[in-house]
Amino acid sequence: MAGTVDLFTPVHKGLRSMIYDLSGRIQTTDFADGSAVTALLQDLENDFAVARSAGCILCTLAIHAHHEEAVVFPPSAKFANRLVTSLIEEHHDLTRREEAIVLAARELKGLPTAQARIEAGAHLNRLANQLFAAYIAHMNREEVELVPLLRESFTDPEQLAMQGKIIASYPPDQLFAMVSWMLRSMNVTELSEFISSVKAGAPPPLLKAVSDLGEAQVEPARWAEVRRRVGL
Ligand SMILES: [Fe+2]
Ligand SMILES: [Fe+2]
Repeated sequence: MAGTVDLFTPVHKGLRSMIYDLSGRIQTTDFADGSAVTALLQDLENDFAVARSAGCILCTLAIHAHHEEAVVFPPSAKFANRLVTSLIEEHHDLTRREEAIVLAARELKGLPTAQARIEAGAHLNRLANQLFAAYIAHMNREEVELVPLLRESFTDPEQLAMQGKIIASYPPDQLFAMVSWMLRSMNVTELSEFISSVKAGAPPPLLKAVSDLGEAQVEPARWAEVRRRVGL
């Protein structure tokens, strides 16, 4: 039987919110102000090499692509090889853009004058805009082209097993940072489906941790409706 689970859209909503937030921060940063630049660059680059920090948005974008390639793409390649190959090529392009931003950020950090930082900051902003445009177009494509194929080809238990595998492979700090963004970004129906799937597939302590996060992150009326629908 065809599945109804949507493996991509909820997590993509969280990633879009992260991108909107970071984009807003970069374009309003006063690059003449050395301390404002340091704070921004720390968040951008923090632990990029090990891709572990919960505060690093570029890391989260990179980890998301890695999870797709490790868990979802291999079984999908059996029925959508051309699409999966093309999505992986886009991942490589996104990685190159992320690395270019990190390099630009490192260069910016060493600049001694406000004028030099302003010019380098404008360059960084353009690189970030190009990454975000490409990343959003890529996510749109996965939702339009891959999600329907996944639903046709996998049952809900099969898709939930993939989701469980991804959740289990996250370092805890990264997982909770990601889930916080997702919870804030979904509507009531999507939130209810997401919490139901966690309830069905995750151990009770993880369900409790996600529920506590929802309590803290989602506005009270919306969260109360989710609890009512899911029976939490
Ligand atoms: Fe992707
Ligand atoms: Fe994706």
